Amino acid sequence: MIIDHHGKVAFVTGAGSGIGRAIARQLADDGASVACVDIKMELADATAKIITDAGGSAAALVADVRDRGAVEKAVADVIDTFGRLDLIVNNAGVVTMSGLDTVTDEEWDFVVDINMKGPFIVAQAASRVMQNGGAMVNMTTVEAEVVVSSSGNCQVHYNASKGGVKMLTKALAVELAAKGIRVNAIAPGPINTRFTGGDITGPEAMAFMSQRLLVPRVGEPEDIARAASFLLSDAASYITGTQLAVDGGWLTR
Ligand SMILES: NC(=O)c1ccc[n+]([C@@H]2O[C@H](COP(=O)([O-])OP(=O)(O)OC[C@H]3O[C@@H](n4cnc5c(N)ncnc54)[C@H](O)[C@@H]3O)[C@@H](O)[C@H]2O)c1
Repeated sequence: MIIDHHGKVAFVTGAGSGIGRAIARQLADDGASVACVDIKMELADATAKIITDAGGSAAALVADVRDRGAVEKAVADVIDTFGRLDLIVNNAGVVTMSGLDTVTDEEWDFVVDINMKGPFIVAQAASRVMQNGGAMVNMTTVEAEVVVSSSGNCQVHYNASKGGVKMLTKALAVELAAKGIRVNAIAPGPINTRFTGGDITGPEAMAFMSQRLLVPRVGEPEDIARAASFLLSDAASYITGTQLAVDGGWLTR
């Protein structure tokens, strides 16, 4: 089945950069109208412009996914602008590179609230107005399954938040099945974005990663975007409550 989102409206968080921007572009290429949502308006605007310049349909919206009022307003704006809502991508996420000894309560709340509470708030607000037959994708990570200590220590707050999103995905799949809404997660491996602030394509990082990767390269945001578009499409209509690793084989051994 060819992936076709014509007539569908998508809401992508963290759409201003990296994986979120690639997903927004892919969904637009596949026919959807896309609400590009980001905490930074200039980034959301830039993604929406890329889409409209290419002939697609998009709107830029600003919202911090931790802010219930802002998320509810963004969802209402989507209905006002496009008349419906079908597809949700809970992609916005952050990490801070602190180990157990140094991570503060503030860092814990910052990371856990954006990564785990944000998808809960978005799912609650969006599912009230989503179309029957809709679908949602939540972004986890291989670190929802295994601990990676690339910086010399793991990030306990990040691991905990993403493990939570994995289970949130299953709970949402159960809760929203009655509305005909499917919910899945994608667990990316290392993807070439500005997420960690460091260069993950350099020789030192590659030496570490090549011990795990079966596909001998860092992933690109488009690798995740194609998987997201598939999971959101009718081609995946029998898939719900699962997590798809898009990780170059990281979790295989
Ligand atoms: N890059 C990787 O290697 C990798 C690996 C596994 C999982 N992930 C996950 O993929 C997702 C996207 O990461 P990325 O690599 O594209 O990072 P990125 O930093 O390039 O993009 C994140 C985007 O989210 C936005 N954002 C941050 N806080 C927000 C908030 N409170 N509300 C709304 N928007 C907010 C940022 O402005 C930015 O545009 C994250 O959830 C991350 O945990 C990334």
